[in-house]
Amino acid sequence: MKRPQAQVAVLQAADAQEDRRIDDVAAEADLKPEAATRAAFELEADGLLAVSEETLEHYELTEEGDQYVRESLPEQDLYEAAIDAGAADGPVQMGQVIGASGLEGGAVDIALSNYARKAYGEIDSGEITANQDADPGSDPEMLALEAVADGRVEDADADALDQLERRGLLEVREETVRSVRLTDDGVTALMEGVEAAETVDQLTPELLTSGEWEDVAFTEYNVEADAEDVSHGKEHILRQTANRVKDTLVGMGFSEMEGPHADAQFWINDCLFMPQDHPARTHWDQFALEEPEEIGHLPPDLVERVRSAHKEGVGPDGEGYHSPWTEDIARGMDLRGHTTSLSMRYLSGHQVGELDPPERYFSVEKVYRNDTLDPTHLLEFFQIEGWVMAEDLSVRDLMGTFTEFYEQFGITDLEFKPHYNPYTEPSFELFGTHPETGEVVEVGNSGIFRNEVLTPLGVDCDVMAWGLSLERLLMLMYGFEDIRDVHGTLCDLELLRETEVIR
Ligand code: PHE
Repeated sequence: MKRPQAQVAVLQAADAQEDRRIDDVAAEADLKPEAATRAAFELEADGLLAVSEETLEHYELTEEGDQYVRESLPEQDLYEAAIDAGAADGPVQMGQVIGASGLEGGAVDIALSNYARKAYGEIDSGEITANQDADPGSDPEMLALEAVADGRVEDADADALDQLERRGLLEVREETVRSVRLTDDGVTALMEGVEAAETVDQLTPELLTSGEWEDVAFTEYNVEADAEDVSHGKEHILRQTANRVKDTLVGMGFSEMEGPHADAQFWINDCLFMPQDHPARTHWDQFALEEPEEIGHLPPDLVERVRSAHKEGVGPDGEGYHSPWTEDIARGMDLRGHTTSLSMRYLSGHQVGELDPPERYFSVEKVYRNDTLDPTHLLEFFQIEGWVMAEDLSVRDLMGTFTEFYEQFGITDLEFKPHYNPYTEPSFELFGTHPETGEVVEVGNSGIFRNEVLTPLGVDCDVMAWGLSLERLLMLMYGFEDIRDVHGTLCDLELLRETEVIR
């Protein structure tokens, strides 16, 4: 029987009694590992060879782990310094012990947290004690580090290995190892004799006309062979969805707004009829800028009209807040907590000139809030801002716009709840249902701008507006339960790689 050269070499190097690693077979057959693997799969398809697979774990020290194994663990240094300082007899000032330990920077925190975890002693209100019974000399994590460094992983304690991996001192790499074994048919084939045929991977006119094609073996392609996973760079789904949102809104007749991330409180809050003592304006909620501390220019006539709206309200029956309003506060610079600052800039006529209704604008841009991080909150997120300026708008227009917009993203179960904003009346919060947890999730806030907002801006028809969360939209579309998996420093790369993008 004639077979391609590589197959013959692999057959001859394989054994019927034991599995042989494909790398060893390749070396003996004088083939590259890839060529030997391909030949092995071809032979397996013909029943002459059995290919088996095994996943091996390799432990490797990280740079930090390597440093500790050569020196010592930070908590061991801390313990030594604490003992020297007499902390075994009672609490000692922490600063003194840390100073003597030679630990610096991030190593101090690492030492403290592991010291406490391993009960080397107690750390309480700036003081430290050392537990005399602790035995850092035979610290299981250090022993495991040493075992890995010496190539004796089997001696290491499994819990200690886990802990080291969590501490980032160790990395586990997985490797797939393939082995081959001759089958009975393989043995028979070898006994009957296999000959190497000249292999050809391309059929040429010469081969055809000369008739030589009858004597050559053609390279086989195994289209089902396992291919290596290659994770290439790709557009992040959040960015991809942002672009889809933009396309959708452009398709609905909207134009895009742009403007500063750091802006005057005037545009972020005052134009929106948010009283200067409103709790959402404090730095508990918003990030203030130190440099520059205030904006260079505000349109003086608009400042006057906004001041007057805050003090006296608008129209003959107007009611203002009767609380102090100063231009100094309005000039203060913050990172925008919403992109409604852009809507104010555009509606004022100072961005693209006077607007002539009907007009529609949107932005999909980042906003910044001093929130507490949790599964649905980040310090920065993307807001889908938008507004429609037209005569006689109603709540039905608002709801209809959302229904049409969210439908494009497969979300058809929107719910609306009456809400309060200082700048819109009526106001509505929007909710959708999380596809995995069934929980009702807030996705946005909206309303129809009050006259106290529109009159100073010089707008004399209706404007309906909204701010929706892009991240929450993504959670509803993809079923993500923790936004921190999707972006930010803790993001789950595996999840991002495997998520099939909805187009
Ligand atoms: N600025 C609001 C928010 O951030 C959203 C909004 C914009 C509401 C415009 C009404 C009108 O929640």
